[in-house]
Amino acid sequence: MTQRLVSAVGLSMAPAVVESAPPRRRGPAVRRPLDFYETAPWQVDALVDYLPELEGSVWEPCVGDASLLTRLRERRPTLGPFTTNDIDVAKRADYHLDAARPDAWRAMGQESGRPDWVVTNPAFGRAFDILQHVVGVARFGVVLTVRVSFSEPIRKGGRGPWLARHPPAKRITLERCSFTANGKTDSATTEWLIWANVPLQPPFLISAFGYKPERSPRSSVSNRHAR
Ligand SMILES: C[S@@+](CC[C@H](N)C(=O)[O-])C[C@H]1O[C@@H](n2cnc3c(N)ncnc32)[C@H](O)[C@@H]1O
Repeated sequence: MTQRLVSAVGLSMAPAVVESAPPRRRGPAVRRPLDFYETAPWQVDALVDYLPELEGSVWEPCVGDASLLTRLRERRPTLGPFTTNDIDVAKRADYHLDAARPDAWRAMGQESGRPDWVVTNPAFGRAFDILQHVVGVARFGVVLTVRVSFSEPIRKGGRGPWLARHPPAKRITLERCSFTANGKTDSATTEWLIWANVPLQPPFLISAFGYKPERSPRSSVSNRHAR
């Protein structure tokens, strides 16, 4: 798909290359190559419960193993159609492009039109690059899960000024979990940040307590939905 797409629109985009270098050390934890971490079902449950406006077509630009999309489909079966991308050619996706590059979004748009929503759990290191492209692409809105530190208005890279001009419309803060599945929690918790071109219902600042399963972090049923 990538090669066909690149030649069809005449892009000089380099084909996606899977990182073969060993995982990088960042602080005490070793991060996985390409920041591949699954989104837990209970995290998606919190999003679905607090974003009733999420309807229509969805692009997932960092689809990975489709953990996020699978739970979204289960919880909101009317959603779709879906278009998927992942830079890792080993992942099953419609496209294998670098979502941090503007030409990737132009190419996907030319072939697949504009989505109603972009929903993703991006590689943390590329989240801001990806976000700046997708806000102009999605018709209704953009939903990202990022570390809470993402909202810190740092000057480096221009994120602070950009966030000041484009504050998210809704924030759903999640309980902290172990993305590494080794029992060690991540250094900060994560949250869903939502930028919308459509009116959203309140509440706008949500502490999503009670979704994380108490004993089995990989369980597909959160406390909230088990009740
Ligand atoms: C945190 S994982 C999320 C996986 C999946 N979306 C989920 O929610 O379970 C991030 C994914 O982004 C992919 N990725 C990393 N950098 C990327 C980039 N520049 N463009 C597109 N995908 C990228 C990785 O291969 C990985 O599958």
